[in-house]
Amino acid sequence: MLGRRVPDVTFRTRVRDESIEGPNPFRWQEMTSDDYFKGKKVVLFSLPGAFTPTCSTYQLPDFEKLFPEFQAEGIDEIYCISVNDAFVMNAWGKSQNLENVKLIPDGSGEFTRKMGMLVAKDNLGFGMRSWRYAAVINDGFVEQWFEEEGFSDNCDTDPYGVSSPQNILEKLTEKKAA
Ligand code: BEZ
Repeated sequence: MLGRRVPDVTFRTRVRDESIEGPNPFRWQEMTSDDYFKGKKVVLFSLPGAFTPTCSTYQLPDFEKLFPEFQAEGIDEIYCISVNDAFVMNAWGKSQNLENVKLIPDGSGEFTRKMGMLVAKDNLGFGMRSWRYAAVINDGFVEQWFEEEGFSDNCDTDPYGVSSPQNILEKLTEKKAA
């Protein structure tokens, strides 16, 4: 993926809209890859599922906490993407009290498939999900790539390390110093 442009995809998000009355003041909002990536330097990380233990206990909260350090390295946004729909992603974000990391729902898996990162997780009853990876993306182009080892369908293990925020920060700092 290094040097390649991220795929052009339309994401279906749900946003709060105060003009809507009643108990569920949300509406659909389409967001494109350009909306997320154009003219910005971002970290994107992708994981197997909202609410899963490693993602909820380490990866997402650590990215959230370390956001100021990423900003100091020139990162404008941190995005977390998962093959989950907008309702699930919003509920996960709420449960994590997120203020810094933005969640992207890739419910149909289109972005993940076009990134070449879609894997079967039928062994867990998950269906098609994302392999764990992260990337530094500058104006839509992949500048740095962090893919966990062992890309495969129905993997027995869930490797996590290369795509941790600590590792990415280290590599960003090394790149700046070089
Ligand atoms: C985890 O994040 O711990 C996890 C991810 C996918 C499946 C099971 C667990």
